[in-house]
Amino acid sequence: MFDPVERLKEFVRHPSVSTDSKYQDGMRGAQEFVSGLLRSLGFAVEVVKTNLHPIILAQRAGDPSWPHVIVYGHYDVQPPDPLDLWKSPPFEPTERDGRLWGRGAADNKGPLMVHIAAVGRLLERNPRLPLRITFLIEGEEETGSPSFLPFLEKYQHRLNADFVFLSDTGIPREDQVVITCGLRGLVLCDVEVTGAKSDLHSGLHGGVLRNPIQALAELCASLHTPDGRVNIPGFYNDVLEVEPWERAELSKLGTTEAEYRSFLGIPAFHVPPGYTPFEAIRFLPTLEFNGISGGYQGEGSKTVIPSKAFVKISCRLVPNQTPAKIRLLLYAAIRERLPKDVTFRIIDQHEATPYIVVPPDRSNTPKDQPARLATAFRAIDAAVTEVFGRPPLYLREGGSVPIIADIKRVLGLDSVLLGLFLPEDNLHAPNESFNLRVMQKGIAVSERMFATLAGK
Ligand code: BES
Ligand code: MN
Repeated sequence: MFDPVERLKEFVRHPSVSTDSKYQDGMRGAQEFVSGLLRSLGFAVEVVKTNLHPIILAQRAGDPSWPHVIVYGHYDVQPPDPLDLWKSPPFEPTERDGRLWGRGAADNKGPLMVHIAAVGRLLERNPRLPLRITFLIEGEEETGSPSFLPFLEKYQHRLNADFVFLSDTGIPREDQVVITCGLRGLVLCDVEVTGAKSDLHSGLHGGVLRNPIQALAELCASLHTPDGRVNIPGFYNDVLEVEPWERAELSKLGTTEAEYRSFLGIPAFHVPPGYTPFEAIRFLPTLEFNGISGGYQGEGSKTVIPSKAFVKISCRLVPNQTPAKIRLLLYAAIRERLPKDVTFRIIDQHEATPYIVVPPDRSNTPKDQPARLATAFRAIDAAVTEVFGRPPLYLREGGSVPIIADIKRVLGLDSVLLGLFLPEDNLHAPNESFNLRVMQKGIAVSERMFATLAGK
């Protein structure tokens, strides 16, 4: 069997930044690396063209009566900037303190390598394993997966699996694994507010018109109540009620509020009434300003009334909110609240539907949950308990993996999400790394899940 850590280093060495065209070679390198590795394990690999970065579809066919698992992952990574904050260069993977450092080591190359290595080991031991496996590895996750939905619709007939298996979510501590059973959704947009047709001298014209920065700032300020709720009528209407078992599960998290607060470096939390910070992340929607600009930003000062102001807004959604409805409510609030003496433009960005899957034996598990999905959940639970020395927690997650809800809608398949990255892995930030002990244990867990499913 190949050495998964050495292969991971090779994978990280390909600078596969999907959002930036200057990394085209890195994208192709990473794609060819994964395709080659899966081919070497005996998979039939197809590289499916898209408008941007191809999707790798690698299949191990077999008897139609065998269980069929789709493993999802992404070979693209976030941009490495700001470069000067990295202790070792982002695309020169380095082993230090039991971790592998490099952009994408945790999100998502390490966790993806976990499942490839698990399948590799298992097939080496059982070349005739009665299990169908499809790897679906995309290169556009960090840009909102624009090609994935059309791909699913087109390749539906090849994807008649029992469930999807992936690791692209987090865990609180090295010894506490989480099976993620919910993901938040997203709605993103930009707002551009325009005052006068060009920048103006604030002495010559100041006092006769509304400043677009002020209009935008007042709009932004209106979108929350002082106690931290989103101030848009109807915003919370469809929010799924939290089940008692979910709160109980969360109380076993083992991280204190004080620890979390100091991890964030904030003087105090700001959480809507009735929720702990840990609950708010998972059970409540949010509205955030991701960036704001306008006017003079250079050195010194400039007496100007700027012509334009911009903001980037994102909402995180929880089940059963829908992106379409939240977009309508948000846009209506923007339209109503911006004063009539400025003009504005709202620019749609992408979105994602929230997702929930209830593990077996809970009060709200659907009665018709497929048997093989339940088998997988139970197998993972047993494997995690044995390998990590502690049973997993079943928690919803604050982050989003947009394709998971698309897969549910188009293919009717649920996902088993084995969390593997730690808070200190620095996803999307400088000095990203992946804990190699978690990696080795993850491989053991994944291998057992596949083995159990195949009846071994
Ligand atoms: N792996 C993350 C999602 C994630 C992060 C789940 C942290 C759990 C904890 C994924 O690659 C990601 O970053 N998703 C983006 C959405 C995407 C449309 C850019 C996100 O959640 O912001
Ligand atoms: Mn990811």
